[in-house]
Amino acid sequence: MARDNKLRSTPAVQFIQSISSSWKGYELFAIWIVKKLKPKVTVDLGFDMGLSTISFAHGNCGHTFGIDWLTDANFSRKRMAMESAFHNILNAIRLKYVKNLHLIIGPPTEISNKWNKEIDLLHIDCTQHYEDIQKQYEHWKPFLKKDSIILIHDVASFPSEIGRFFDELPLSKLLFTHGKGLGLATGNPSLCREIAEEWRF
Ligand SMILES: C[S@@+](CC[C@H](N)C(=O)[O-])C[C@H]1O[C@@H](n2cnc3c(N)ncnc32)[C@H](O)[C@@H]1O
Repeated sequence: MARDNKLRSTPAVQFIQSISSSWKGYELFAIWIVKKLKPKVTVDLGFDMGLSTISFAHGNCGHTFGIDWLTDANFSRKRMAMESAFHNILNAIRLKYVKNLHLIIGPPTEISNKWNKEIDLLHIDCTQHYEDIQKQYEHWKPFLKKDSIILIHDVASFPSEIGRFFDELPLSKLLFTHGKGLGLATGNPSLCREIAEEWRF
């Protein structure tokens, strides 16, 4: 699409697309949804090396919070992710591509216990397990508005875990089937239809 080509050619988007991640393929949608929703608060559970968080923060709408415990059995992998996230995010800030981006390191469920802000856009990408995503969702649900958008990554790569959770959500939904599968859910059916039309579902 011409719109995508124009966006892709900006230095900020080229920078974003240079970040390596299993989340690749959703950057332009993340940038678009932020532009559409103009969220005051975006929460990204699982920032890893920073791609999704930087993509959500790109529009500089409100505040974007990346939350990750950076849990990985392999300590060197965890340290590498942390160093890469800081490197990528500091570069994004230094180059003035993002502002109002906040990183919180800790278990998302514990952080939710102290949370006090309504959330417009929630992205969950910090688990591959059914019980765990249920738990994450229940912890963050009290902060969602009726019109909030919930994005869930890994719907296609873990069909009996994350896919099952997404299928069971009693909300209006869309699913991007490319990559590892990104599900979108909202309590606002007309917003869901608008997004579906724009993205030709
Ligand atoms: C696939 S990565 C996220 C990718 C990221 N959204 C991106 O754009 O590159 C998943 C992240 O979830 C984190 N994670 C895994 N299990 C977790 C748990 N139980 N609690 C919190 N974070 C967890 C990992 O540390 C990892 O950084």
